[in-house]
Amino acid sequence: MDRIAIIGGARLEGEIPISGAKNSAIKLMVASLLTEEPLRLTNMPRLADTRFLGKLLARLGTEVTETEGPDGPETRLTTREIVSGFAPYDLVRQMRASFNVLGPLLARTGQAKVSLPGGCAIGARPVDLHLKSLEALGARIDLHEGYVYAQAPRGLKGAVIDFPINSVGATEHAILAAVLADGDTVLQNAAAEPELADLADCLNAMGAKVSGAGTRTVEIRGVSRLSGGTHAVIPDRIETGTYAMAAAIAGGEVRLTRTRSDFIQALIDKMVEAGVDVTAHNDGLTVKRNGARLNAVEVTTDPYPGFATDLQAQFMALMTLADGESVFRETIFENRFMHVPELGRLGADITVHGGEARVRGVQSLEGAQVMATDLRASVSLVIAGLAARGETVVNRVYHLDRGFERLEEKLGACGAQVRRLKGDPGEAEVE
Ligand code: EPZ
Repeated sequence: MDRIAIIGGARLEGEIPISGAKNSAIKLMVASLLTEEPLRLTNMPRLADTRFLGKLLARLGTEVTETEGPDGPETRLTTREIVSGFAPYDLVRQMRASFNVLGPLLARTGQAKVSLPGGCAIGARPVDLHLKSLEALGARIDLHEGYVYAQAPRGLKGAVIDFPINSVGATEHAILAAVLADGDTVLQNAAAEPELADLADCLNAMGAKVSGAGTRTVEIRGVSRLSGGTHAVIPDRIETGTYAMAAAIAGGEVRLTRTRSDFIQALIDKMVEAGVDVTAHNDGLTVKRNGARLNAVEVTTDPYPGFATDLQAQFMALMTLADGESVFRETIFENRFMHVPELGRLGADITVHGGEARVRGVQSLEGAQVMATDLRASVSLVIAGLAARGETVVNRVYHLDRGFERLEEKLGACGAQVRRLKGDPGEAEVE
């Protein structure tokens, strides 16, 4: 398995172009199951997760072609025919978002058999709301031996679905299923993350009629068929926020380009409160910090537009060196403090009680061997390593490769001393 080694202490100066959003790209790829015509996605990130999903889609009948377009990486997906409506456990377990093929398979062919994903490192992550939405749309759902057997022989029918909580995955799944349903669907208390609006924009480019995505109420007028289309994936807000925090912890001045500052406004507010200099511009933002110690600030994760759970670990890494005690409340996932003991190995002073972590800022961190536990936790260790004295080695880098494209190259271009230590490919693991 590869590892990432970081020698801390270098200031960061330069520009980092942000890639297309992983959590958008994988849902947009799934949307290609809804039409027999080609869907061309531009600004695609090239990640372990997109490659992995490509393999699953290929098994279902999608022809997946990756090319280099005039504006960067593109993926063309064509599903002339669904050749299999079966998504097996070993694939869905490795990447939960694969579960979202269920709705489109059902919408297009009237049946599907898809494995339940099971829990993951950050929490139990049930899919009850996904299944309830599909049932509300008229699907018959049976669970046997860890599989969802779904049927809608006479097609799906529009419905009103009122979500008890804001779920990104369940909202996306309901939209993906409802676009081809007979009649109108209204989603109430929907998730409003930018990836939802991106999915709707892509589907609308394919002939769907989705309005309100990106707000709490989404309306979908079912259509009988979708065509192909071309769509540019939105910038990755989590990658943007992560590099913003890398610049803040290391000091220096970094311009993040090809992205949108408004997607991470809640993070920017906290960074400014902590004493980081952040300037938004048309193409992204510039993050600057010159020496002074940061202030400790409190953070509570919330659905968008609140502070993203996917940025919590990175902000905690930043706060390990702040002046005073900061408090983190994690409200989205029940087990999302797995980075705490690893940050502790670098000298951070953090205690956790239930969903709350208290971080008492220390004067300095010291490099050590640490273990990545999930994608965002891993990158928080890289961020901490940028400021630690000596060498930090992050093990289990396959987590990072799921969601960060060319991380060592992007940070290295700004002066960070980050390198990949190649491991034995036979040891590779995916989770
Ligand atoms: C998406 O996960 C993201 N993943 C996550 O990013 C992100 O942390 C999360 O949204 C929250 O923003 C992808 O987009 C692939 P949810 P998702 O459904 O859709 C509960 C990363 O690092 N819930 O919004 O699975 C759930 O347990 C990943 O890139 C139910 O109870 O998240 C959680 O407490 C990690 N029943 C809450 O809702 C359900 O049926 C929000 O989860 C579904 C969810």
